[in-house]
Amino acid sequence: MKNITTTITPKQINELIKNRRTIFPQECTGEQIDDKIIWQLLENATWSPNHGKLEPWHFFVFADNTREKLGDFLIKLYKKLTPKENYKEEKATKLRDRMSQSSHIIVVVAKTNQNPRIPEIEDIEAVACAIQNMQLSATVYGLASYWGTGALVYADETHSQLGLSKNEKIVGFLYLGVPKEGLIKEATRKPIQEKVVWIK
Ligand SMILES: Cc1cc2nc3c(=O)[nH]c(=O)nc-3n(C[C@H](O)[C@H](O)[C@H](O)COP(=O)(O)O)c2cc1C
Repeated sequence: MKNITTTITPKQINELIKNRRTIFPQECTGEQIDDKIIWQLLENATWSPNHGKLEPWHFFVFADNTREKLGDFLIKLYKKLTPKENYKEEKATKLRDRMSQSSHIIVVVAKTNQNPRIPEIEDIEAVACAIQNMQLSATVYGLASYWGTGALVYADETHSQLGLSKNEKIVGFLYLGVPKEGLIKEATRKPIQEKVVWIK
């Protein structure tokens, strides 16, 4: 039995949660992150809550030249899925640049329906928590992270390119990188009082 206490103070965790910001690849230097840190982020992902001990998360890590290959694949797919009149060369360039500006791209997958008692949504929820664990960890390491989704991420072609089965769902692409110096990110949230009904 492990001691469940932690040396992290309430002030530290409050600050970490509030200061985590999405930092996009275009706000990164393109420098490489040590693979050991990536492994630690992945390890932290696995400590997320999950129903039925299913640990439904799976990860595909792209780095170095496989980042480019992923970029090439997404550009081809963008061309394929976009009607000619809507196709924008800048979007294709952005897809390519995103890869070189990032250090690692983690494709995060939820394996669902492993247990008939656990609804699919719960596996996806657990994997979303795993992504949050990685984003919070990235913040502490001073790293940028961006959780991207969209038509290309959810496309059948992306699913089959990764060799996924019917029960496996892509929950997002997590772009990780080294943020440019002096970056200031503003964010707001509505007052929590607007979202809470405290039943008395
Ligand atoms: C499920 C999910 C999907 C997301 N997909 C995108 C996306 O496709 N493009 C994007 O710009 N941001 C995406 N985001 C990131 C949000 O835009 C980002 O979290 C939001 O701007 C709030 O900023 P913050 O993370 O700094 O608080 C996604 C976030 C979640 C939770």
